[in-house]
Amino acid sequence: MSVNEARERAWELLAGLPKVTLGEAFAADPGRVAKLSGRIELGTEQDAGGVLFDWSKTHLTDEVIAGFEALADAAGFDEARARLFAGEVVNVTEHRAAEHSALRGVGKDASVEEAAALRARMKILVEAIHDGVLGEVNHLIHIGIGGSALGPALAVDALARDFARVDVHVASNIDGVALEAAFAKCDPATTLIAVASKTFTTIETMTNAASALAWLEANGVADAYGRVIALTAYPEKAVEWGVDETRVLPFAESVGGRYSLWSSIGFPIALAIGWEEFEEFLDGAATVDAHFRDTDGRANLPLRAAFADLLYARLRGAETRAVFAYDERLRLFPSYLQQLEMESNGKRVTTEGDPVSGPTAPITWGGVGTDGQHAVFQLLHQGTHLVPIDFIASIAPGDALDPAHHRILLMNCFAQGAALMAGQGSDDPARAYPGDRPSATILVDDLDPATLGALIAFHEHRTFANAVLMGINPFDQFGVELGKAIAKKIEAGGERFDASTEALLEAAGLAR
Ligand code: F6P
Repeated sequence: MSVNEARERAWELLAGLPKVTLGEAFAADPGRVAKLSGRIELGTEQDAGGVLFDWSKTHLTDEVIAGFEALADAAGFDEARARLFAGEVVNVTEHRAAEHSALRGVGKDASVEEAAALRARMKILVEAIHDGVLGEVNHLIHIGIGGSALGPALAVDALARDFARVDVHVASNIDGVALEAAFAKCDPATTLIAVASKTFTTIETMTNAASALAWLEANGVADAYGRVIALTAYPEKAVEWGVDETRVLPFAESVGGRYSLWSSIGFPIALAIGWEEFEEFLDGAATVDAHFRDTDGRANLPLRAAFADLLYARLRGAETRAVFAYDERLRLFPSYLQQLEMESNGKRVTTEGDPVSGPTAPITWGGVGTDGQHAVFQLLHQGTHLVPIDFIASIAPGDALDPAHHRILLMNCFAQGAALMAGQGSDDPARAYPGDRPSATILVDDLDPATLGALIAFHEHRTFANAVLMGINPFDQFGVELGKAIAKKIEAGGERFDASTEALLEAAGLAR
């Protein structure tokens, strides 16, 4: 039997399993919570903290999990994981390895060493800036888009809200409104510009970078290029563009854009939170790497999460999955996850180029609790869609106000999961809750750099595990290319498009 056939057979067996409700699953197994919860400890010291992953309110049962373990065997999960950590070519369409874990010290020796050397270079620059070697630096405008912006924006927003060592503003959109907003908050005399682009060719980033240079010059900064730091996998392009070699921080080509915040793309994170804290962020991720690499079957928490993801996406028709952080500091987590999951697994062919046999990545969406409760949770409780939900919360508060704030926040988080699962009958159909709606809860002891690193790495590996079980390549993103190519053609002029597009160009005065 080929791998494809074995995988499809495992899917068929899974589809044929009896469907038990959450209530039945809990009633049948008193040990369910312990069985479907797991903790990852983030250090050896007692107060180092950790992360609890409670998947008991999903429809995973012993039988379903065994079915998914058989699928993992059929799909060659162990071998695929070994290839990932060995730095072998796992991105088969682009003939590349995917070595983001090497940036955290877990991977092929040579890649780990190379990453450490590049990190040492970045450390020197970060500490020089903190020590005032580049003069007074109060602000950094970080210019990048997609993976070159979403991770840094998330981490800075989560970890350096009130006490950033350098005030960081991330500008990604080519809409000048975004960059102007950053300018308005910065003093050009004490501002550095980070140009973050793996390829150093992305039009949004290069256009914004040119405008940022013009802004510095227009505001009397004598050596505008001297205020620029480039973060890229193609250092020669940054030098060609005008950045001094000493301020170019490279990273390896084998690090994908949406996995790059651990590399020099994380420069703004280190600048905002400090070097030691940046290393803690990497260490938190490395702990999850070790767990994912060394744990087999159902005890492997990212793999187990992928089992539940696929149960809903492939076998129960869920088209979306929602993530609600009951933590204001994680308000950007859903948009970060959207790129990670949808750009990675929003595919329609297998690694062999055959059409996939079922839906791939669900649409990731979400927001923060409690805000979501007063806006979109109506649909989650009583709507017709099945939406598996992840709740994320921290036991320690992020605020110093009356403890009532945090207590009510956490109680609401747990109440939502309980209500979705239990439901409630009523004689009035409009007031009845069907219940049996799944959720998972990720509860961190405290949201610190190590914990955020662990949370992100957990989702990276969960995304990879989903891809292996579906037989797709999560590391390319050809789907974004066609639109870019057409935009270029429009810009160049001389070509005709469909009647609607022509009319829109005409209406906007852009016809050429
Ligand atoms: O267009 C998609 C994409 O290639 C993403 O994968 C990437 O994170 C983003 O663009 C930015 O690319 P770069 O870092 O090369 O500017």
